Amino acid sequence: MAKSKTVYVCTHCGNDSPKWLGKCPVCNEWNTYVEQVVTPKSNSGTSLQHSHESPKSRPLSLNEINTGNEIRMNLADEEFNRVLGGGLVPGSLVLIGGEPGIGKSTLVLQTVLRLTNYKTLYVSGEESARQLKLRAERIGYDNPDCLIVCETSLDQIFTHIKNVHPDLVIIDSIQTIYIENIESSPGSITQVRECAASILKFAKETGTPVLLIGHINKEGSIAGPKVLEHIVDTVLQFDGDQHYMYRILRNIKNRFGSTSELGIYEMKQNGLREVSNPSELLLTQNHEGLSGVAIAAAVEGIRPFLIETQSLVSTAAYGTPQRSATGFDIRRMNMLLAVLEKRAGFKLIQKDVFLNIAGGLKVNDPAIDLSVISAVLSSSLDVAVEREICMAGEVGLSGEIRPVNRIEQRILEAEKLGFHTIIIPHNNLKGFDYQKTQIRIVPVKKVEEAFRELFG
Ligand code: TYD
Ligand code: MG
Repeated sequence: MAKSKTVYVCTHCGNDSPKWLGKCPVCNEWNTYVEQVVTPKSNSGTSLQHSHESPKSRPLSLNEINTGNEIRMNLADEEFNRVLGGGLVPGSLVLIGGEPGIGKSTLVLQTVLRLTNYKTLYVSGEESARQLKLRAERIGYDNPDCLIVCETSLDQIFTHIKNVHPDLVIIDSIQTIYIENIESSPGSITQVRECAASILKFAKETGTPVLLIGHINKEGSIAGPKVLEHIVDTVLQFDGDQHYMYRILRNIKNRFGSTSELGIYEMKQNGLREVSNPSELLLTQNHEGLSGVAIAAAVEGIRPFLIETQSLVSTAAYGTPQRSATGFDIRRMNMLLAVLEKRAGFKLIQKDVFLNIAGGLKVNDPAIDLSVISAVLSSSLDVAVEREICMAGEVGLSGEIRPVNRIEQRILEAEKLGFHTIIIPHNNLKGFDYQKTQIRIVPVKKVEEAFRELFG
C-alpha cells in the first residue's frame, strides 16, 4: 500500500510544494496554498527502466498525420455552434464555467434534449433525476436518446459510459465528482485536476466529446486552479447579470477556433432562447427625447450589433466627484472624460459621471468610445441625441476619431435597423462603396465634428 503524503497546492496556478508558502513563487499570489493529501498509485514510477516495453504511441512526422475531413458535431443551436467555432470537435473536452444559477445546466440540458441522431449521457452530480425531469418538462423537450444518471464516482461514471456507448458525455459538474483512491474531498484541487485529466484521456482515446460544467468561485475564476483551464481544449464562460434576462456565452480559450465569438441568449420561462438578432433586443426601449443616450454600432467577434450607451452627469455633491461604469472600463471612461474636458469645456472636477451599457453587456469593442463620449456630453448639456443616429469610432487622446474594423458590417446593420444617419471615422471611408447604402454617412476626423453633427 502506497503511503499517502501531504502537499500544498496553489489554488491559483496549481503549483505544488512540500511545505506551506505564504506567497506562490510561480504566480506571485498571496495566501493561495491549501493542504492536499495525495495517495500515489503503487506503480506510478516512470523511468527509463520501463522503456523496453513497447509503447502504445508512435512518433510521427506531421505529414504522416491524417486529419481527414473533420466532421464537427452540430449541436442544433446556432449560438452554441458558433461560439465553439462551428460545432463540437470529436474527442474535445469543453469546460463551461459560470456563476451558480446563471443557467449552465439549463443550457446544456436543452441542447442535448434537442440533439437528434446522437446518443448522449448526462451525468448529474448536483441534481436528482427527478429535478432533471422537472427541468426537462419546463424546457418542453423529450428525447429517448438522452440518458440521465446521477453519479459522482468517476469509476462508476466510466462503467456507465462503457455500457451506454454515448456519442456525447455531459458532466454536471466537475466539482462534484471524485476518484475513490484519492483521499481529498470532491471539489478540491487534486480531485478536480485528476478527474479532468482522466476525462481528457477518455475523450482523446475514444473520440467522444465531453462537456464539463464548472463553477466560478468568489474571485471570478473557474473553481479549481487555472490548471483545469490548461487541461481542457475549450473554455466557455456563461455570464450575464442575474437581474437581466440576457445571458452571454463567451469563448475564453479555444484550441479549435477563434475566441472572439459570442452567443447571446434570453432566459425565458421555458429555457434559454437563442437571440439571433441582438440589436432588436438591445434597442427596444423608446428613448426619444431623453438626454444621455447614444447608440453605438458595435462588433463582437464577427457579429455587428447596435447597443445603447447611457450616461448620467450630475453636479458633484461631495469633494471628490463620483465615477461609475457598468460594462465599460472605468479607466477608459476617465480618459474619455479628460478628452471631453480638453475638447468640449466639460468641467471634470465638478461632475459625477455614471455610465451604463444597456442590457448588462460587457463590450470590448473600442468603437463604442464615440457613443460613450457623446452620451456623457448629451447628459451634461441635457440635449438628446436624435433617435435615428448611431455611431462608431475609437477616440484617441487628442480627440481624433480613429478608424475601426468591419465598418461595412456596422453600416449595413445600422441601415437594416432603420437608422437614417451613422457617424463613422473619416479614415474608414477609403475603399467603401457609398452607392451600396441608403443611410446617410457622416465621416468625422475629430470629436468636435461629431458633436457639431449631434448637438449643432
Ligand atoms: P440552472 O441551469 O440551474 O443554473 P446553473 O446550472 O448555472 O446553476 O438555472 C437556474 C435558473 O434558471 C433558475 O434560477 C431558474 C432559471 N430558469 C428559468 O428562468 N427558466 C427555465 O426554463 C429554467 C429551466 C430555469
Ligand atoms: Mg447547475
